[in-house]
Amino acid sequence: MLDQAEGLRQLAMGNTSSQNTRIITVTSGKGGVGKSNFVVNLAISLQKLGKKVLIFDADIGMGNDDVIMGIFPRYNIFNVINEDMDILEVMAEGPMGVKLLPGGSGINRIEDLNSDERERFLSKLNSLNNFDYIFIDTGAGINRSVLAFISSSDELFVITTPEPTSITDAYSLVKAVSHFRIKNKAKIIVNKAFDYEEAGLTFRRFQGAADKFLNIKLEYLGPILEDKRLTQSVRNQKPLVVGYPNSDAGKDIQEIAKGLIGEKNLKEGSGIQNLFKRIFNIFS
Ligand SMILES: Nc1ncnc2c1ncn2[C@@H]1O[C@H](COP(=O)(O)OP(=O)(O)OP(=O)(O)O)[C@@H](O)[C@H]1O
Ligand SMILES: [Mg+2]
Repeated sequence: MLDQAEGLRQLAMGNTSSQNTRIITVTSGKGGVGKSNFVVNLAISLQKLGKKVLIFDADIGMGNDDVIMGIFPRYNIFNVINEDMDILEVMAEGPMGVKLLPGGSGINRIEDLNSDERERFLSKLNSLNNFDYIFIDTGAGINRSVLAFISSSDELFVITTPEPTSITDAYSLVKAVSHFRIKNKAKIIVNKAFDYEEAGLTFRRFQGAADKFLNIKLEYLGPILEDKRLTQSVRNQKPLVVGYPNSDAGKDIQEIAKGLIGEKNLKEGSGIQNLFKRIFNIFS
């Protein structure tokens, strides 16, 4: 873990390019807390507000953003790396024009690419440089690939629910990020809250512990209420903000989208080529 930490640290300090794509990793400690539904609905909300958004489903072998969106991508980045397909052919399109890049089994292969293959893959990513936001939906838990994605992106969003088990796992994740000095900031979403008060209290407790024991600043991105319309949306394979935009959770997510667009004083984001360059560096 130590030499890996050094690699991650170097990467965290690495330079970013001047492109304007904000690359955001969305993760959690515990599984099943609502990452994928949040990413899909946030992406659709941002598209509705005129932004161009790409979701990179990086949950190795278990990604299901396509299922949530009710689309059926035929390919994933495995086909780009292994079969010389073009990246635009592999991207699928979801509601409101959101683009999806399924990682599929391709993520595992990134580690094994030689330098020629890496160069070729990076040059193919040129066509992806006109996005405003790229969200990386990771699997749950703390592992090398999740830390690599966090380290390689511009921002980190962490989702928790008010349940103590979810909070302690989110805390462990943030602790690892802070310990390896991968990021010094994270934004927190409290999902499945019974009311806004519970969500706010959850955030403040989390923030209090981080302030006291860790070297990382937590900001509140917002609450999302527990909402059976969301469960229904998953069953119907029609995202919440498409089927029930005026539902409680639907409104919460759209508020978060507006908040993101309104953020001031942002550093410029980096492009997707830089994302993969940094990931290649970590895995080499
Ligand atoms: N705000 C909410 N209200 C009610 N149910 C919710 C809410 N958010 C998520 N869920 C439920 O939790 C389930 C899991 O959500 P989701 O697949 O988005 O989690 P995840 O964190 O991506 O899981 P994994 O760790 O397996 O990738 C959903 O299918 C839905 O039933
Ligand atoms: Mg998921």
